[in-house]
Amino acid sequence: MSSSPDESKSSNASDRGRENKSNVVIRRMTPADLYDSVDVHMNAFSGYMNTSIGKRYAFRFLEWFQARNDCIALVAELAGTVVGYTVGAEIGYNKILYRDLFWTVAFGAFAHPFALIHKGAVRQIKIRMLSLFGLIAPPPNISPDLKSPVFSLVGMAVSDKAGKKGIGTMLAKAFEVEAKARGAKSIRLTVYSTNMRARALYFAQGYSVAEVTNAEYLYYYKNL
Ligand SMILES: CC(C)(COP(=O)(O)OP(=O)(O)OC[C@H]1O[C@@H](n2cnc3c(N)ncnc32)[C@H](O)[C@@H]1OP(=O)(O)O)[C@@H](O)C(=O)NCCC(=O)NCCS
Repeated sequence: MSSSPDESKSSNASDRGRENKSNVVIRRMTPADLYDSVDVHMNAFSGYMNTSIGKRYAFRFLEWFQARNDCIALVAELAGTVVGYTVGAEIGYNKILYRDLFWTVAFGAFAHPFALIHKGAVRQIKIRMLSLFGLIAPPPNISPDLKSPVFSLVGMAVSDKAGKKGIGTMLAKAFEVEAKARGAKSIRLTVYSTNMRARALYFAQGYSVAEVTNAEYLYYYKNL
């Protein structure tokens, strides 16, 4: 990777100086970062469907992005500890991800049957299965303004103890720099409509809400 993600270490007025930037390093995720990143993920998304089928799925999910050269996987390290991560890829990644993680999801659901009573779980699984087998169209073009190639910021989290210090903002910026370096002309993402923290962060980073909506989540996008 170019040195671009490390540029987000530099001080910047919009980073508000809430965390001493020299203490935070944004860098590419390595295999050694996976366990810490999974812990951040499990805590940050506690109660969400994507953690309800267990740590093994979270590990395979993050490992999938970390191991592929065509994906973005960054971590934020504070005083030598991984306190945040972000992952993503060019849109179209999801079909391969669902195929590769099919058995992990199946075993996760089997081992955590209560996950299936999670609000929306069955619907999500159905959508993913249909999409995997090419039976539904890929996600809609959420806005006519969206420029191609489009990258998806698939996930981002910061541990509670390191939260509200600007690290989420640093990760979002680093993701953008990295996506741009890979040729992206825009970034899109989804956020649960109830997730006001994430919504505020993306809004502050210049993302717009697409008109296409869903009862549970909003689509955000940004042209680069
Ligand atoms: C969303 C998340 C990544 C933000 O990380 P963070 O390091 O706390 O973010 P920052 O410190 O950079 O804050 C950025 C902006 O978020 C908003 N924000 C942060 N904490 C907030 C809170 N408790 N309530 C409301 N807004 C909040 C603010 O607008 C803040 O900007 P400001 O300082 O100008 O007010 C983190 O809270 C998290 O991991 N949440 C759980 C997982 C998640 O929702 N991921 C994103 C969806 S994929």
